Amino acid sequence: MKGNKRNLYFDNAATSWPKPEPVYGAAEIFMRQMSGNPGRTGSTRTIEADRLVYQTRAALARLFHAPDPSRIVFALNATDALNMAIKGIIEPGDHVLFTAMEHNSVLRPLGGLKKAGLISATMIPCSKEGATDLDFLEKAFKPRTRLLIVNHASNVCGTIAPIDELIAIAHRRGAFVLVDAAQSAGVLPIDVQASQIDLLAFTGHKGLLGPAGTGGLYVRPGLDLKPWREGGTGSFSEMDLQPESMPERLEAGTLNSPGLAGLLEGVKFIEEMGLDQIRNREMELYAYLRDKLSRIPGIELYSPEDPSRCAAVLSLVMKDIDCGELGYILESAYGILCRTGLHCAPMAHRALGTFPEGTVRLSPGYFTRKEDIDYLYGALEEIAALKS
Ligand SMILES: Cc1ncc(COP(=O)(O)O)c(C=O)c1O
Repeated sequence: MKGNKRNLYFDNAATSWPKPEPVYGAAEIFMRQMSGNPGRTGSTRTIEADRLVYQTRAALARLFHAPDPSRIVFALNATDALNMAIKGIIEPGDHVLFTAMEHNSVLRPLGGLKKAGLISATMIPCSKEGATDLDFLEKAFKPRTRLLIVNHASNVCGTIAPIDELIAIAHRRGAFVLVDAAQSAGVLPIDVQASQIDLLAFTGHKGLLGPAGTGGLYVRPGLDLKPWREGGTGSFSEMDLQPESMPERLEAGTLNSPGLAGLLEGVKFIEEMGLDQIRNREMELYAYLRDKLSRIPGIELYSPEDPSRCAAVLSLVMKDIDCGELGYILESAYGILCRTGLHCAPMAHRALGTFPEGTVRLSPGYFTRKEDIDYLYGALEEIAALKS
């Protein structure tokens, strides 16, 4: 097998690749032919850039069933959006709940706020399969609990959180809910109105199939966040305070318009294919991959068996081989790209029992073929045989 090294990408949970062809073209066309700065002056180019940014906002609002595109605020990525949400809603003295599956883009902002003595926070434990402990959650609320933060789909084991149930519990206790959709936007159905989501952070470069440097935050109408970044918006320039109107209130500075042009094409691709078809394809690939890997002696899998319970993210450990070494062999000998280690989610690994070594994470995407999985299976089988 080694002789015929390929170039196979199993790291879509880090960033999706390849992108649909129009994504590349749209970013390039924007830079070569448009390049106006949206919202700044009234030149034809600026108006065209403005229109394109609005179309991207509207496409995302459609995808997430948001009632109004102005409630979609662009950000650099999910990390930026999560910081915007957390720092925009928290008041000194507040208490925050978060699940053990959260990424460092949640854990670290909370850690910083705690260290500064501004908030207290409680982690909701999760099972070995990444399921949130609902009994613990019910009892964890305090009089000043303002926010519950939930990772919609784990970037370690793929497990999907029951967000409707979690949101119902939090709302009954008077807390807001911030959903981290970094791994679910574009691959799982999200209806912010039906699920009564208060805040939804997403990134553009994963399931939404757009370029890096794009992402955003949905903010429910009626919920006002404090701006955490202030500056030019091209509107109300006479004011020395950030405008109140959305999205300008939370969207200071020049936007990544070429990236947003690409993101629009990513969302259009999802709309054309249909989210259901994308989800079904990913579930089929996940089930195929998991089934194959479960046949290799010495491999332990850390992702649910039932594909309907998870996104296409699969974690494994191989007996007698360090995860980093396994990842290195997969790439250097077989041309297979994956991610190894803690995946910026140390608490999730503690829950799964894979801390501190972490796991090897395999994440197929819409464009992965079954024959790619067959090749990956052959490679892992060969490595496992050599190690036994
Ligand atoms: C669950 C989760 N949240 C947040 C992030 C941060 O996303 P970004 O790097 O796009 O800011 C990631 C990225 O890996 C993630 O998997």
